[in-house]
Amino acid sequence: MMRSRAIAVVVLGAVAAALAHPVAAPADAPVVDARVAAAFSAGDCARCHDVPVVGVTKAARLDSCKDCHIWIRDVSSDPLKRAKAVEVFPLWPRYEKNVRTYLKSPPLDAAMARLDPEWVRTYLQDPHDLRPNLPETMPRFALDAEQVDAIVDAFAAARVTPPPSPKPDAANLARGEQLFGEKGCEGCHTYGARHTMGVDPLAPDLANTRERMSPDAIVTWILNPKSLSSGATMPTLGLAEPDAIALRDYIVLADPRWKPATALGKAPVATKAPVTWAQVEERVTGRICQHCHMKPEINQGRAGPGNAGGFGWPPTGIELQTYEGVVAVKDRLPDALLRRRLEVHRDVVRPGQQSAVLTRPALPGMPLGLPALSDEDISLVLGWIEQGCPK
Ligand code: HEC
Ligand code: HEC
Ligand code: HEC
Ligand code: HEC
Repeated sequence: MMRSRAIAVVVLGAVAAALAHPVAAPADAPVVDARVAAAFSAGDCARCHDVPVVGVTKAARLDSCKDCHIWIRDVSSDPLKRAKAVEVFPLWPRYEKNVRTYLKSPPLDAAMARLDPEWVRTYLQDPHDLRPNLPETMPRFALDAEQVDAIVDAFAAARVTPPPSPKPDAANLARGEQLFGEKGCEGCHTYGARHTMGVDPLAPDLANTRERMSPDAIVTWILNPKSLSSGATMPTLGLAEPDAIALRDYIVLADPRWKPATALGKAPVATKAPVTWAQVEERVTGRICQHCHMKPEINQGRAGPGNAGGFGWPPTGIELQTYEGVVAVKDRLPDALLRRRLEVHRDVVRPGQQSAVLTRPALPGMPLGLPALSDEDISLVLGWIEQGCPK
């Protein structure tokens, strides 16, 4: 640790020296729009996405939810690297077992090329689930109107104008539905309650697409996603144009046949069984919360977005990595957990189920952007608090 920190300091020193003697920028250097870059930075977008915007720096692995989690999986898939990791980090087997989320996030370059910027505005102000097979969702942000405007402008500037196509026509619905099965779309995509077999975690539920993309863009995308963006991850399926048009019409005109969301059960109550700190740490705070609420003194100064502020939210000073840190906010935990339980009923869709309509609580529920704790785990935390937080 000491050694690598010393190296880091040397490297940082060199960077600082270079900055003190700036080299003239080459004439064709890309222009940084400071307003746009600042908005993407305020939202911490680079922690979870590769952001294709000039002036937005890639998050270092130690700050990137995506890159660090992917790194853990990569190391574990290589027996030599894994053996070394186990030596350095005694808890490695637990890490590799637990890390599940942020291993995949949608590529923003493909999103910027195809999505309607005004849809992006509503999504940033009120994110909801788009991919039923991806457990994590976008976090709620606390960005102001100017910051949201700046991000929407960047989406508008990157949007690709596709070639014109015929207007959607209901006469194509039956043919489109048939092709949806024949051409394999339903193996990857869900589509409301019409198709619920799709398994690709990155494939969006196509019931939202009519609000997100223009009819022309959908045809072009189905024919060849890479013609809109080289970052697109859907394979080109080699369809004839009339088939792509029929599929587009099916996607924008068919009734998704949503089923209403299952009613939210009664809120869990505190368990009467004795609960230990070790259980709370293993099942809740150590497994999930501490990754955003770190204690800087034991993390080389890093505190995480839930402590130092992030996604536009101001700092809270809350660390959930130690017993003392958790006990310090014990009175706020029940509310935060129950808020997420409610919010998730609206935010997270199960295949085929429409999300519930409800007013969001003013403060975001916890864990932010992730599925709520199970009722069993909430009951455990409530019981532990009621029993006086035994160590
Ligand atoms: C904590 C991780 C995280 C952060 C930070 C984050 N995102 Fe996301 N974002 C996601 C995930 C996960 C999804 C996929 C959600 C889904 O499909 O339900 C997503 C989806 C999106 C989408 C939809 C793309 C598509 O193809 O459907 C857009 C647009 C987007 N993010 C923009 C942003 C912007 C702009 C920021 C910064 C203001 C940002 N994200 C910050 C995790 C994150
Ligand atoms: C330096 C590496 C690193 C970074 C950066 C990192 N994590 Fe993790 N994360 C881990 C490890 C290791 C685990 C497993 C820990 C354990 O089980 O004790 C984990 C587990 C998790 C879990 C619980 C398991 C799962 O995947 O659902 C969540 C949630 C999580 N991290 C969220 C985040 C978020 C959000 C960020 C970005 C703000 C982030 N992490 C950044 C290393 C990292
Ligand atoms: C191998 C899995 C796979 C198959 C098969 C597949 N898709 Fe996709 N599709 C994806 C993924 C992944 C994305 C998101 C791509 C990205 O973000 O780069 C996507 C995106 C889309 C989008 C954009 C939707 C939106 O709301 O953003 C449309 C439209 C679409 N696919 C239609 C189809 C149709 C029609 C078929 C069948 C002809 C099909 N897809 C077959 C994986 C697949
Ligand atoms: C993805 C990152 C992330 C994860 C994971 C996360 N938090 Fe937070 N947390 C935040 C952010 C950002 C804020 C600041 C939001 C605000 O100002 O309300 C916050 C604020 C809080 C607050 C103060 C606001 C309130 O509700 O009183 C509490 C308490 C809290 N978190 C508890 C938790 C618990 C418990 C968990 C695990 C179950 C958790 N957090 C997981 C990011 C996270």
